[in-house]
Amino acid sequence: MSKSVKLMKTLTLSTALVAATATFALAQENPAPSQDGGYGLGRTALPEEIAAWDIDIRPDGQGLPVGSGDVWTGEELWIDNCSVCHGDFGEAVGRWPVLAGGFGTLDGEDPVKTVGSYWPYLSTVWDYIHRAMPYGAAQSLEDDEVYALVAYLMYLNNMVEDDFELSNENFLEVAMPNEDAFFMDDRAETEYTLFTGEPCMENCADSIEITSRAMVLNVTPEAEEEAAAEPGAGAEVMPAAEETVVEAAAEPEAPAGPDPELVAAGEGLFRQCASCHQIGEGAVSRVGPMLNNTYGAPVGSHEGFRYSPAFTEANASGMVWDDANLTAYLLDPRGFIPGNRMAFRGVRSEEDAAALIAYIRAEGGDHE
Ligand code: HEC
Ligand code: HEC
Repeated sequence: MSKSVKLMKTLTLSTALVAATATFALAQENPAPSQDGGYGLGRTALPEEIAAWDIDIRPDGQGLPVGSGDVWTGEELWIDNCSVCHGDFGEAVGRWPVLAGGFGTLDGEDPVKTVGSYWPYLSTVWDYIHRAMPYGAAQSLEDDEVYALVAYLMYLNNMVEDDFELSNENFLEVAMPNEDAFFMDDRAETEYTLFTGEPCMENCADSIEITSRAMVLNVTPEAEEEAAAEPGAGAEVMPAAEETVVEAAAEPEAPAGPDPELVAAGEGLFRQCASCHQIGEGAVSRVGPMLNNTYGAPVGSHEGFRYSPAFTEANASGMVWDDANLTAYLLDPRGFIPGNRMAFRGVRSEEDAAALIAYIRAEGGDHE
C-alpha cells in the first residue's frame, strides 16, 4: 500500500514536471483555452448545466417559473407526497417538522416556527419545496405541483380560502404574516461601533475591589462528606447545646447569653450562606432574603423579597421558623420544603445547623 502510494507520488511529480514544461512550451505558441490568468483546467459550463444549478427563487420573484396551482390540487398532492411526515394539516407526524400554526408563540418559551408563524417570504417556501421535498425524492415535483403545494400550505396557515389559486402572476401580492418582524442587519451601526474603539490595556478601573471569595461563592469543592444525606433527620432530634441557647434567649432574665463558641462556629459556617444572604445591620435581600429577625418568624415573611410559590404556600399554612423547622430546612432545604428556590445542598450535621441558628439569632435578632 505505502509502496504504491510512493510510486504514485513519484509518478505524479514527474508527470507534473513534464506537464509543466510541456504547458510552458505550448502556452507560448498556443495559449490555454481558459479564462485569462487561469490554469487551463476544466471547461466553461454549458448553459444547460448552469440552468440545472440555478434554481433559487428570490423574494422579488426572480427565478420564479411561469405556472399555477390551486389549494384543492395541492391537497391531493399533499396527501400523496407530504402528509406521511408533515401530517394531514401540517401538524407533523412524530418529530418531523411542523409546517402550520404556531402563531403568537415566537416570543414565548417554546416557539413553534412554521411557514405561517415564522417565514418572512413566500419565495423561500416555493424554493424549499421545489429544491428539497419530498424528502428522499427531491426535485421530483413539476412547477405547477409546487405552486399547488405552496397554495395548500398557505391555506393550512389560514392565509387564503380554499378557492385560492397561486401563480407567478399573483405571487408577489402575498405578504407573509411574520414578514415585518424581520429587518435589515443594523449591527454595523448599532453594535460594531461599541467594540471598535481603542481597547484599554492598563489602569482601566479606578479602583479594584474584591467583592466575593471563591470559598464564599461555593465554587471551591470541599471534601466529600460521609453521611451527609439523612434528610429530615433534624426535624425531631435537637442537640442539647441548641436547647440551652433557646432557653437563654427565651428568658431575658437569664444571665447567660448565647454560647459564644457556638455563635463563632456559626459565623464561620455562615460563609456558605453569605453569597446569597446578608445579616446584621444594614442587611438587605439579594439572591436570598436578608435574615434579620428570622428566628420565630413565619416562613417567607421578609417584606419585599419575591419568594417561591413553595415558600408562599408554607407561609399560608402557618409554618414558623422555630428550631425544629430551621434545623430540618438547613439540613435538607429541598427535601424539607420541596420546590423552594434556595440552591444550597444543606449543612453537614445537626451541630452545624445549631451553630448557624445561634449565629442567625445573635447577629440578626429574633422575630418579635
Ligand atoms: C419522509 C419525510 C418527509 C416527507 C415525505 C416530506 N418532508 Fe418536508 N421535511 C422533512 C424533513 C426531515 C424536513 C427538515 C429538513 C431539514 O431541516 O434539513 C422537512 C422540511 C420541510 C419544509 C421546511 C420546514 C421548516 O420549517 O424548515 C417544508 C416547507 C416542507 N418540508 C414541505 C414538504 C412538502 C410540501 C412535502 C411534500 C411534497 C414534504 N415536505 C414531504 C421530511 C419530509
Ligand atoms: C445560592 C443561594 C443561597 C444560599 C447559598 C443559601 N440560601 Fe438560604 N435562601 C435562598 C433563597 C433564594 C431563599 C428563599 C427560598 C424561596 O423563596 O423558595 C432562602 C431562604 C432561606 C431562609 C428562609 C428565610 C425566610 O425569609 O423565610 C433561611 C432561614 C435561609 N435561607 C438560611 C440559609 C442559611 C443559614 C444558609 C447557609 C447555610 C443559606 N440559607 C444558604 C438562597 C440561598
